[in-house]
Amino acid sequence: MPLVPMRQILDEAAKGGYGVGAFNVNNMEQIQAIMQAANDTNSPVIIQASRGALKYSKMIYLKKLMEAAVEEFPHIPVAMHLDHGNSLDTCKQAIALGFTSVMMDGSLSEDGKTPNTYEQNVDITRQVVEYAHPLGVTVEGELGCLGGIEDGHGAGLSADEVDAHLTDPEQAEDFVAKTGLDALAVAIGTSHGAYKSGRKDPETGEMLPPKLAMERIHEIHKRMPNCHMVMHGSSSVPKELVDIINQYGGNMPDTFGIPIEQIQDGIKHGVRKVNVDTDSRLAITGAIRKVFVEKPEKFDPRDYLKPAREAAYQVYVDRMKAFGQAGHAGDYEAITLEDAKAYYK
Ligand code: G3H
Ligand code: 13P
Ligand code: ZN
Repeated sequence: MPLVPMRQILDEAAKGGYGVGAFNVNNMEQIQAIMQAANDTNSPVIIQASRGALKYSKMIYLKKLMEAAVEEFPHIPVAMHLDHGNSLDTCKQAIALGFTSVMMDGSLSEDGKTPNTYEQNVDITRQVVEYAHPLGVTVEGELGCLGGIEDGHGAGLSADEVDAHLTDPEQAEDFVAKTGLDALAVAIGTSHGAYKSGRKDPETGEMLPPKLAMERIHEIHKRMPNCHMVMHGSSSVPKELVDIINQYGGNMPDTFGIPIEQIQDGIKHGVRKVNVDTDSRLAITGAIRKVFVEKPEKFDPRDYLKPAREAAYQVYVDRMKAFGQAGHAGDYEAITLEDAKAYYK
């Protein structure tokens, strides 16, 4: 099966009332772990690469790895998605490489930091839709800004500023109508990376969990029941994974992620794509650290990359089950970009 347009995966998820994990990749081990997890849980899946990932993997390697992935598991619907595209050119490059979906993150300007105006966001997102749809390629846009800047994607908003940049449901309706996008990333108080909160108890100084505006998702779903929403920054940052890192020489302070129950609540209300990167990074780092500490005589990369791949695999399996995509790989006949071209016409 060739790579599937992401739109179909989202449409089917909406029909089935489940969410689909969109997992970030940079290398072979992550791709193999995701595909094995999708196979073992019988899940459709979205694999995504950031601009940083494309640079790291030199693009062509990622393309070939994805070809290998669909060849090994032809019964699994897989979409290949560009995460946080910052310009029409970046989106064009990904499409030329064979990506079946792109995100134009027009919430920020090309530097990936400075918030765009609403009009700028509409304008650039619409340009990408006009380019991508005739090629059958899916487009995700973002309205509102995520907090944080840990991995270079975000406006670096303080906990107080985040409130002013949450997605406005009324504006969301206008944005979807004006751009014609397929999936809408919403800002509801999540941020990328392992340190999502930025909120401290004023009395004890202890970190507090991030405050999420789930009611905005509910409201957008009420206004646009057919709109596929995307939750970025959705790693749960499980304490057990952070503990392994710290047990083997790491130094990560206490932190909070997004509880699975809140993601599941989002899925009940129209969230179809759930972005997870950090949890796989944590699992991989913990597994590698463990080998380094317990078996310091080892120097063959396979001795630590194999456990790393297994640890990431477990994260993917758990998320696929929790988001509800497990069991749905065989529900439908996958379409091609050619079919999607006709659909958009
Ligand atoms: O969108 C954020 C993802 O975690 C990708 O991060 O740019 O470090 O690859 P990255
Ligand atoms: P996390 O950092 O929470 O895994 O979020 C990843 C993400 O949103 C990628 O776009
Ligand atoms: Zn993101």
